Amino acid sequence: MKKPTVQPKNVERQVPQGGLLVSKTDLRGVITYANPVFIEVSGYSEEELVGSPHNIVRHPDMPRTIFKILWDHIQSGDEVFAYVKNLAKDGSYYWVFAHVYPVSGGYQSDRKAVEKREVLSSVIEPLYRKLREIESSLGLEKAVEYLNNLVREKGFSEYNEFIFKLEFNNLGGGQ
Ligand SMILES: Cc1cc2nc3c(=O)[nH]c(=O)nc-3n(C[C@H](O)[C@H](O)[C@H](O)COP(=O)(O)O)c2cc1C
Repeated sequence: MKKPTVQPKNVERQVPQGGLLVSKTDLRGVITYANPVFIEVSGYSEEELVGSPHNIVRHPDMPRTIFKILWDHIQSGDEVFAYVKNLAKDGSYYWVFAHVYPVSGGYQSDRKAVEKREVLSSVIEPLYRKLREIESSLGLEKAVEYLNNLVREKGFSEYNEFIFKLEFNNLGGGQ
């Protein structure tokens, strides 16, 4: 299916606590499977999702940097973790914490509701704004470099370590 033009709205959609949004793709990122929770939250039908490139749910607020890091990891056979803001069919958005990894013939993503909401406002949203700014002024490579430097400055050896600890060890402060 051709990527539909969806006008983003400043309306948040709830992701069911405890529910997993699961999708699988082929090696190019074309959706081959969507579970009922992903179908429900995305607002698309199974027929609309399966066969579409996964950027069907891409939100314009997401920096390209994060997808570059995602693809670099999974194409090297590694797993990757990411906070992702996705766009539903009706223009609303939803935040998820995603675990993406290689499976036979492609990739899988299991996503859950973001538990530490304050991590979004205090770390992730400002970081994503900054990355988008760097992407448009200096380019994607500089934005990736900025993120990698930030990860090192915070004392982590790798992006995944930083992101995983944000969600599970409460580095973002609060709560
Ligand atoms: C298994 C898997 C799951 C993905 N899940 C998402 C997702 O939930 N949202 C998203 O925007 N991109 C997701 N992507 C990344 C997309 O394939 C794509 O790289 C991204 O949306 C950027 O698209 P664009 O470069 O065409 O704008 C996923 C990729 C894979 C392999």
